[in-house]
Amino acid sequence: MPKHYITFRDLSADEYSFIFERTKKLKSERARNQYNRPHLAGRAIGMFFNKHSTRTRVSFECAINELGGHAIVMNIQDSQFSRGEPLSHSGRVLSRYLSGLVIRTYEESQLVTLARHSTIPIINALTNEHHPCQVLADIFTLLENINSEPLAKQLVAWIGDGNNMANTWLEAAAVLGFKLHLACPEGYDPDQAILARAINDNPNIKLFRSPMEAAAGARAVNTDVFASMGHEAQAQKRLEDFKNFQVTSELMAKAAPGAIFMHCLPAHPGEEVTEEVLESPNSVIFDEAENRLHAQKALLEYLIPSL
Ligand code: CP
Ligand code: NVA
Repeated sequence: MPKHYITFRDLSADEYSFIFERTKKLKSERARNQYNRPHLAGRAIGMFFNKHSTRTRVSFECAINELGGHAIVMNIQDSQFSRGEPLSHSGRVLSRYLSGLVIRTYEESQLVTLARHSTIPIINALTNEHHPCQVLADIFTLLENINSEPLAKQLVAWIGDGNNMANTWLEAAAVLGFKLHLACPEGYDPDQAILARAINDNPNIKLFRSPMEAAAGARAVNTDVFASMGHEAQAQKRLEDFKNFQVTSELMAKAAPGAIFMHCLPAHPGEEVTEEVLESPNSVIFDEAENRLHAQKALLEYLIPSL
C-alpha cells in the first residue's frame, strides 16, 4: 500500500518530526551546494494542475530534479481527466509509469478516488479543502523561528477566511498539539467537520469573531487572501465582508513580542494584509516559500521509498 499525502492528518507527529529533521538537513546541504541526491534517479513524478500555481509547481519541479528524478507537468485541461476518463482508470494507468503523482484541483474527492486506485503516492498540491504541503513548510518555518522552544507551547493566530489553508492549520494543530486561535467573519468559518474534530482532539483551538482577540499573545499571525481560487466571483462581496479582518501593524502589536507574520502567498497587498506588515522584518513570507522546496524534498523521500 502506498502512503498518500492528501490531508495533514495522513502523517503522525513522529513522522513529522522525522520529516522536519530531514528538511533541516536538506536545507543546510543545499546552502552548501550539496543538493544532487539520487533518491528518485531514473524515476518520473507526475504533476497535474487544474488551478494556477507558481510556488507549488516550481518548488516541486526543483525538488524532483534535485532528488535526481524527472517531473512530468501536465495541465489537467490537456489530459483525458477533463474529458471524463474514469479516475479509477487514470489511477491505475499512471501507476504503471510514475513513482508519485502531485495534483492540484478543485474537488478533493477526486484525489481520494485516485488514491484508491493507485499503487503510487498521491500528493495533494491544493484542493478546495486542504493545502497540506504549504502547511508542512509553514510549520517548518515556525520551528526555525522558535529555535528550541517546544512547538506545543506556541500560539498561532489565523485571521480571515476559513479556507483550505485554515482547514489545514486546524489539522496541523490537532496532530502537533500547538494552540490555534482563529478569527473568521460570520459565514466564513472553516469546514464544520474539520473544525469540530480538531477541537475534539485539541481543546486549545478556539474560534473568535474578533481579529484582535485571536491575535492576542500569538507567536505567529497567519492570513491568506479573502477570495481563494474558485471564489473570484465573490471577490467584491468578500472585500466588504472581510473589511475588519486586515492584518495591520496595530494587529501585530497585539501579538507576542517578536511575533512573525505568515502568508502562504500569493498575497493581495492592501487587502488581507498591509504592505507595511508584508515588508516588515518579522514577515517570514519568503522563507515559507523557500521552505516549500526543502520540505517537499523531505516529503518525497519519505513517501517514495528508494529502490
Ligand atoms: N502558496 C502556493 O501554493 O502558491 P502557488 O499557488 O503559487 O503554488
Ligand atoms: N487559499 C488560497 C491559497 C493559494 C495558495 C487558494 O486556494 O486560492
